[in-house]
Amino acid sequence: MIAFVTGGTGFIGSLLVEQLVQRDWEVRCLVRTTSSLKWLQKLPVQLIHGDLFTEESLAPTLAQATHVFHLAGVTKALTAAEYFRSNGEAVRALLQACAHHAKNLERFVFVSSIAAAGPSHDGHLVREDETPQPVSVYGRAKLEGERACAEYAARLPLTIARPPIVYGPRDRDVYEYFKQVRLGLRLRPGWINRIYSLIHVHDLVRGLITLAQHPNAAGETYFITNPDPVEWTQLGLAIAHAMQKKTVQITVPTFVTSMVAALSELSAQIIRKPALLNFDKIREMREPHWVFSAEKAREQLGFATTLSLEEGLRQTVDWYRENEWL
Ligand SMILES: NC(=O)c1ccc[n+]([C@@H]2O[C@H](COP(=O)([O-])OP(=O)(O)OC[C@H]3O[C@@H](n4cnc5c(N)ncnc54)[C@H](OP(=O)(O)O)[C@@H]3O)[C@@H](O)[C@H]2O)c1
Repeated sequence: MIAFVTGGTGFIGSLLVEQLVQRDWEVRCLVRTTSSLKWLQKLPVQLIHGDLFTEESLAPTLAQATHVFHLAGVTKALTAAEYFRSNGEAVRALLQACAHHAKNLERFVFVSSIAAAGPSHDGHLVREDETPQPVSVYGRAKLEGERACAEYAARLPLTIARPPIVYGPRDRDVYEYFKQVRLGLRLRPGWINRIYSLIHVHDLVRGLITLAQHPNAAGETYFITNPDPVEWTQLGLAIAHAMQKKTVQITVPTFVTSMVAALSELSAQIIRKPALLNFDKIREMREPHWVFSAEKAREQLGFATTLSLEEGLRQTVDWYRENEWL
């Protein structure tokens, strides 16, 4: 099998590439002149120097690929236009290139997000057949990527994965919470106790490979998630337990979080580097129930996560410590 992976230099993509290589897939990764090759340089993969919007740069690789894993995208950006360009228009451009050149294609897996579906309004586990109601620009842009997939559904064997919060080795977002715990703190934004679906990156990668290979997955969309959501406070306590740290929880009033987001957004605009906390993330944080059903993937594909939260966090802490991130 020959996989063409976009986003292979990133957190999830690099671990997907590692897993594909371990399973003897031939892997080709799209890289840009600005990409860091830190995670790919020791792997036997072919680097394809190209651009999602330049069909000629992708054509020879797509002509051979049996599988495309499209993970390239931005989770934070300075402008709405950048969210839509990288998460919407880029998907459409790659699908068009696939329709023209990928004659051996068995599956195209698009990694979308729960943000495209939007949160649960009453705490029930959202299912894939519910009408998407994204609350953030990021979510609307990922939904635009899903709409591009729908436009090509008759011509290409497509599957959409919607992961929740992904944590694990190499992650830099949930990592911020680990850094708070190292200081003995657990900051809770606002008094509402939020509840989240999440998944360890190793389980997600296994899920993506299942989506690429399972005949039932063609033409379908799946939440690839742990079945049991976790409350924010419980997550903090579980991280503290994994780190063997004594912590105190401090509730940060919502207006303070918004002020911090404003400052962080301002400095991001000045240094031209997107910040983790911005107004778009605040829109998502206002919603208390980011919870999604794992049933469809279990029923149709037999996919289930294998790492408990405790085990996943322990592995993550070990990795952060071994790599001197903590
Ligand atoms: N992390 C999560 O919790 C999470 C949850 C749900 C869904 N997702 C989705 O999963 C995917 C991967 O996320 P991640 O956390 O691994 O992100 P990441 O670490 O920030 O990696 C993003 C990857 O996308 C590439 N990329 C971005 N814009 C590109 C463009 N215009 N052309 C080519 N490559 C581009 C980056 O390449 P460079 O190295 O060249 O910058 C990098 O390889 C994203 O699509 C994201 O929306 C992530």
